[in-house]
Amino acid sequence: MIPLKVILLGPPGAGKGTQAARLSDALGIPRVSSGDLFRDHQRRNTEMGQLARSYMGRGVLVPDDVTIRMVMDWIDREAGSGGFLLDGFPRTEAQAATLDAAMEESGGIDKAIYIKVSKDELVTRLSDRLVCTDCQMPHSGRDPDTAGSCTRCGGKLYQREDDKPEAVEKRIQVYMEETAPLVEHYREAGILEEVEGERSVEEVGRDLTALISLT
Ligand code: AP5
Ligand code: MG
Repeated sequence: MIPLKVILLGPPGAGKGTQAARLSDALGIPRVSSGDLFRDHQRRNTEMGQLARSYMGRGVLVPDDVTIRMVMDWIDREAGSGGFLLDGFPRTEAQAATLDAAMEESGGIDKAIYIKVSKDELVTRLSDRLVCTDCQMPHSGRDPDTAGSCTRCGGKLYQREDDKPEAVEKRIQVYMEETAPLVEHYREAGILEEVEGERSVEEVGRDLTALISLT
């Protein structure tokens, strides 16, 4: 398969993390979630982790300079020339501009896929989400297969601090103000695809796989 550079766009709770893990496992594309990288720094109590915690707990974005450096380092280190799947980055015009410029030489981003989900559904999903302590795979607390441990690696599940109701509202608001404009950014660039996210994980996954395989 030709190396692909794909962005998953969408509001908090749209299913970016769920689908990125499935696609990466199935297609062998390296993936990164900027939120997962920050949570990993927090767990290791690094300086970046302490800084990120002060923003993430409030549901607001971590400053661009820190985020851009962290994700671009990951791309250089982990993706090389092999393509990648980005989940949760870019989230601002400055992040998108930096990524566009960095990828120009290698032909640019191939696709930005926007997963659409209504606000009511986002709030419901986030309020009962549980995340794996080890691999960060998200699970629905309503899923009968989830009995306190990760269905992917067996790790212990926990509730994210920013899935409490006040932070969820704030995250959705921040998404509308700062990240939603990127849908137009990628539409204008001619690489936007849209997927209806309010269907089963399997149905959404099938559409995403088809879009990526067609690239
Ligand atoms: P991040 O970790 O990226 O959180 P987010 O964008 O708020 O997205 P979520 O992880 O909440 O949602 P998701 O789309 O991954 O949904 P999921 O698959 O889990 O960011 C956290 C914070 O880090 C930010 O607020 C910010 O502070 C900071 N940050 C991160 N990136 C940054 C950046 N670039 N710049 C600045 N700051 C940054 O699914 C949600 C739930 O729904 C799960 O329970 C899942 O099981 C369930 N579900 C998934 N799909 C379906 C389906 N089809 N049907 C039913 N349920 C489903
Ligand atoms: Mg996520």
